[in-house]
Amino acid sequence: MVRVGILGATGYTGAELIRILSNHEDVQIKYLSSQNFNGKKIEDVYPSLKGFCSEKLQEYDTDKIIENCDVVFTALPSGYAVNIAEKLCKNGVKLIDLGADFRFDNFETYRDWYGSDKNGYGDIKRAYGLPELHRQEIKDALAVGNPGCYPTSAILGLSPALKSRIIENFIIIDSKSGVSGAGHSPKQGNMYAECNDNIKPYNVAKHRHIPEIEQELSHVNRKETKVVFTPHLTPMTRGILSTMYCRLIKEISAEDIYEIYNEFYKDEYFVKILDIGEYPSTKNVYGSNFCHIGFEIDKHSKTLIIMSAIDNLVKGASGQAVQNMNIMFGIEETRGLNMIPIFP
Ligand SMILES: NC(=O)c1ccc[n+]([C@@H]2O[C@H](COP(=O)([O-])OP(=O)(O)OC[C@H]3O[C@@H](n4cnc5c(N)ncnc54)[C@H](OP(=O)(O)O)[C@@H]3O)[C@@H](O)[C@H]2O)c1
Repeated sequence: MVRVGILGATGYTGAELIRILSNHEDVQIKYLSSQNFNGKKIEDVYPSLKGFCSEKLQEYDTDKIIENCDVVFTALPSGYAVNIAEKLCKNGVKLIDLGADFRFDNFETYRDWYGSDKNGYGDIKRAYGLPELHRQEIKDALAVGNPGCYPTSAILGLSPALKSRIIENFIIIDSKSGVSGAGHSPKQGNMYAECNDNIKPYNVAKHRHIPEIEQELSHVNRKETKVVFTPHLTPMTRGILSTMYCRLIKEISAEDIYEIYNEFYKDEYFVKILDIGEYPSTKNVYGSNFCHIGFEIDKHSKTLIIMSAIDNLVKGASGQAVQNMNIMFGIEETRGLNMIPIFP
């Protein structure tokens, strides 16, 4: 049994981790922390968990974590995991951070975009937690930086086209997210009256997910790759749909592109390539760890349009984090995650 702790258990990704892990037969939840709900049972904060997890929320205490856990998920705002990782990892506790602290190859990139008082990552063995691209590094890592939700959809959607060199090195990513992507703290822009019946772009050309997407696409493309990225807030609870526009280098048939994508993901259970002419939708992956990818060729403008859909709280956060945990502990990768999407 893997003994698990969750820091930030009362947030949306924390609660989603509990939902998934409560059905995972190789895991015991041993420690849940919160800032504002200490002493309460998690099922009293989230009645949806009634009967599945009655663990009490505690104050954050590293010694207790070291004594009780083999792995800890940090479902906290960015900046916390990087401060506690060294002590936990040196004492044999593996760490999976759902924030951005461990997503970058270079600490300087992290510091430039997120800010930090620290000088570097230290000598902790790290991995970027996108299993479809980094499975071996994740196996060996002590600290995994679980990818952001937008980057998961964009990197999975674009990697086969970049790797096979069928598109130019200029990519436009237009993404739409559900409101749960912003977490559970009340913010004016996330109030019902402001986001219902409304779609709005935000952080255009300056969203913090840009350097993460560029880092991973540059690896796949084997050269520096830049993207234009525009995220939108949409009136749905969960889901991300990314539509990506790429200029084709030469004429290619839909059948050949379909073949490239199928070949790239032939061993990947959680990535489904849709039939030619079929497009993904957030509803078709709702509540699941799947990523659906479809595409279309616009012959008139020689553009390949790739569309990728995930659930931001599952493949975009907590499901992917459990997938990473399974890999790190030698557990079957799909354990606890074989959930059929909820439809309608
Ligand atoms: N939401 C998504 O779709 C999504 C997707 C991918 C990645 N992420 C990342 O995952 C992390 C968690 O996101 P979330 O959406 O679950 O956030 P959230 O709903 O706002 O929850 C944040 C959690 O962190 C705790 N917390 C906040 N400030 C704290 C502090 N100063 N000290 C200790 N605990 C503190 C909160 O505790 P209390 O509730 O007790 O105050 C809560 O449990 C973030 O880094 C986010 O960027 C989120």
